[in-house]
Order: sequence, then structure tokens, then C-alpha cells
Amino acid sequence: MSELSRIGVAIDAGLLDKFDRLIAQRGYTNRSEAFRDLIRDELVEKAWESPDSHVVGTVTLVYDHHVRLLSEKLTGIQHDFHHSILSTLHVHLDHDNCLEVLVLRGRASEVRKVADALISTKGVKHGRLTITSSGAELK
Ligand code: NI
Repeated sequence: MSELSRIGVAIDAGLLDKFDRLIAQRGYTNRSEAFRDLIRDELVEKAWESPDSHVVGTVTLVYDHHVRLLSEKLTGIQHDFHHSILSTLHVHLDHDNCLEVLVLRGRASEVRKVADALISTKGVKHGRLTITSSGAELK
């Protein structure tokens, strides 16, 4: 484990009060972990800005499988980018709607390309890319 550094932060009392209430709602038991998570979140965002950085992400899709050729199109895109897709989960939500979650890993530009191709496919009702990290760069 790396060495811990202690820092002092000057912050407006009203702002700190709002922050404390927010982190309490989210279940943090101390400020330090909440600050560390904010910093990690910024570092993950920054990593995704570099097209060549190695990233991990998930794509969530909701679509109606009755839309003509939609399932085939989505499967085709996934096969085109199979090297970036680690795993997929398919849930039949009801008679019509499907939920798919894909776990992707690779260069940020490639992962975004796969996510954009899937989400922008006509007939997909909702899609979202969630960016995260392999964790290797984060303490
Ligand atoms: Ni389904």
C-alpha cells in the first residue's frame, strides 16, 4: 500500500455543510473516502479523454426485439467488435422489451465507437455508456 499524505483544505462552511449532507445520504461514513472517490472519478474521466488509454465500460441497451432486423443488427455490431466485448447479459423484460448489458474493455476511442454504434442503432429505445476503470491506475 502506498504512503498516506494528509492535506488541509480550506472550504466555505456552507459548502462543507452541503457536502456533508450529500455524502451522508450516499452512505459515506467519513469525508476522506468521499474526497478520494471524487478524485478517482475525475481521474477516470480524464483517462477516457485520451483515445489510446486503456479503459473499461458498460453499455446498457433497451429495445423491442420485434423491431424488424434489430436483434440481428445489434448482434452483428457486437461480432464486428468482439475483441472489445468481454461479456453480455440479456434480460427479457416483458413480452416486447429486452435489456442488454455489455462489458467492454479496450482503447477509449474503440470502446466509445462500439457504444455509439449500438446506442445509435434505429429502434434502440434507450442506451447509455457508463465509463469506469480497470482499477489498476487507481489506489
Ligand atoms: Ni429479449
